[in-house]
Amino acid sequence: MRDAYIVTSVRTPGCKRAKGALAHTRPEDLLAFILGAAVKKTAGLKKEDVDDLMIGCAFPEAEQGLNIGRIVSQMAGFPDAVSGATINRFCASGLEAIAQAAMRVMVGWADVAIGGGVESMSYIPLGGYMPRPHPQWSNEHADLYIAMGITAENVARAYGVSREDQDVFALQSHQRAAEASRGGKFTEIVPTPAVTYTQNAQGLGEQETQVQDFDDGIREDTNLEGLSKLRPVFAVQGSVTAGNSSQMTDGAAATVVMSEAMVEKLDLKPIARLRSYTTVGCRPDEMGVGPLYAIPKLLKQAGLSIEDVGLFEINEAFAAQALYCIRELGLEGRMDQINVNGGAIALGHPLGCTGAKLCATLLANMQARGVQYGVESMCVGGGMGAAALFELC
Ligand SMILES: CC(C)(COP(=O)(O)OP(=O)(O)OC[C@H]1O[C@@H](n2cnc3c(N)ncnc32)[C@H](O)[C@@H]1OP(=O)(O)O)[C@@H](O)C(=O)NCCC(=O)NCCS
Repeated sequence: MRDAYIVTSVRTPGCKRAKGALAHTRPEDLLAFILGAAVKKTAGLKKEDVDDLMIGCAFPEAEQGLNIGRIVSQMAGFPDAVSGATINRFCASGLEAIAQAAMRVMVGWADVAIGGGVESMSYIPLGGYMPRPHPQWSNEHADLYIAMGITAENVARAYGVSREDQDVFALQSHQRAAEASRGGKFTEIVPTPAVTYTQNAQGLGEQETQVQDFDDGIREDTNLEGLSKLRPVFAVQGSVTAGNSSQMTDGAAATVVMSEAMVEKLDLKPIARLRSYTTVGCRPDEMGVGPLYAIPKLLKQAGLSIEDVGLFEINEAFAAQALYCIRELGLEGRMDQINVNGGAIALGHPLGCTGAKLCATLLANMQARGVQYGVESMCVGGGMGAAALFELC
């Protein structure tokens, strides 16, 4: 089996659904921009060198439907021969897409492939525009279709994750993200054109474009008092609030994967190798526990132990589930290695983009700190976990 080298991994900023800077930028434009940026950043790479584009998207319909992977291949100026696919594994879609790009390289079916993700939660709401659960099946198995926030409530209740602990975790996410943003640590962000529409004197719509270069969901002024006053959103007696849940966000990300031969041909210095990737199923009504099973399965597959890992990006779908997984994995004493620049509570969770976004963030942090092994993991709707192991080159 060949090695799959990651030579570039970039993302747009993550911006709040409806209220944020990317709310009026179509997902195709976000994705076309970041794919173009990824190719441009990869010295010597030409668009025609790319074999295929694998694009994660959790609700591939409307503006991000009709196989956005192929449409955007064309929009971004790749030649006709560069194909594109849309990959859906809900919140792991972007990571699945990178893994599929890497697998093509590893088995020798491609020398260059791009894995990425996109989600505009402003254009396409969580759940999509036309959910049509199977009538009989969903009657008996409602767990597969319940709101993700309910699954977080289930985890919090079943495993005793207190409201206070969730809020402390959320506060830490905002504090870390705010500090990282102030300190220019998000080096994986490419300043991204953001569209706004205004009305001119004649009442006609006019499009303006500004450049957005930061994640706009971070609340610098978050404090425990404010968090503790928020009402539970998903259950009257619950503990999951707007403050300790991931934010709904717009964004796109892309990662260029190459064979060793291509790395040498272009004389590039790769960032990392994708060493291993895995997914696993769990109970749908507590889908948030996914990383708890995915990370050990991944490490066993790679022949490593959790002590070997120097950095983790564990998606903060909800503080309740992230915290429970961290505790059960025995990582509570290693918070300085987990989500070091904050997570989705502060930075947002653009569903199908998240796996690709976290890859860019993890690799930037591994490079900055010289960490050999990094693990990215997330829970996935429907009851799953996904995890990937990256080794710094
Ligand atoms: C929880 C949820 C419903 C909240 O949605 P929302 O109401 O649009 O959330 P907002 O971020 O706009 O916050 C609403 C209000 O809560 C308060 N708030 C949010 N975060 C806060 C914080 N850190 N400190 C203090 N107040 C806060 C504010 O008053 C805010 O209103 P404002 O933005 O006008 O100031 C939504 O974020 C959600 O569903 N998240 C989970 C998404 C999901 O399931 N993803 C898949 C996971 S598997």
